[in-house]
Amino acid sequence: MRIPLVAGNWKMNKTVAEARDLVFKMAIQLREIRGVEKVLCPPFPALVAVSSLLVGTDIGLGAQNMHWEAKGAFTGEVAPNMVKEFCNYVIIGHSERRTYFGETDESVNKKVRAAQASDLTPIVCVGETLEQYESNQTGEVVARQMKLGLADTDPAQAARLVVAYEPVWAIGTGRASTADNAEGVVRDLIRPALTELFGADAAQSIRVLYCVSVTAANAAEYFARPEIDGALVGGASLKVDDFIEIAKAARASLMSKSMN
Ligand code: PGA
Repeated sequence: MRIPLVAGNWKMNKTVAEARDLVFKMAIQLREIRGVEKVLCPPFPALVAVSSLLVGTDIGLGAQNMHWEAKGAFTGEVAPNMVKEFCNYVIIGHSERRTYFGETDESVNKKVRAAQASDLTPIVCVGETLEQYESNQTGEVVARQMKLGLADTDPAQAARLVVAYEPVWAIGTGRASTADNAEGVVRDLIRPALTELFGADAAQSIRVLYCVSVTAANAAEYFARPEIDGALVGGASLKVDDFIEIAKAARASLMSKSMN
């Protein structure tokens, strides 16, 4: 049975003071939701402050990106060991990184391997753009991103990987992928790619999250699907009540999945 994971990707939102305020409001309720892995991913400058607020809680901390090199002349970048000082997770290959900052399957792969070498849990994002979706290239694109992005990664750490399916065509359109569609992509493309890469046992242990327009109102519908193990939440993770409700929906799905 895979433990559900709900991660909040704050993107480029919240100053340090605002981040503290959000965590103050959220942490007490969030820590009471047991049996679900909960992770907050604030922007880099807020990681120190948020990490000190999370000490003694079961709430994890993640970065939204990092470089793969250990150190050196890479102005503006952050190294894996700098992330590891505060975090246990790192989001890699988010579609916004791929679209606006030129990330490729190759750079994603370097980052995933660097994360594993630094004992960070990578949350690796895959998904097709509107153009690819409309020209029926979902299968090809997701298979390629999985294969290249996860090539030569550490098999001993495979079970710890997290994959997030992000149908890019649904971002900002208000039209989230249906639970049927999301589950189909995970079942028919992502899980088989994981099996091919790491074998059936490891593939069954890897959490696959749904990402894009997850809200308090629709989360339960995604989490009810056996193949969907949680969510990477953007906008709704900045709203205390919404994020708490999403984590509660993950908890409720755990109970109903364990009864089946
Ligand atoms: P959203 O963002 O939940 O605001 O759609 C999801 C994401 O892109 O991580």
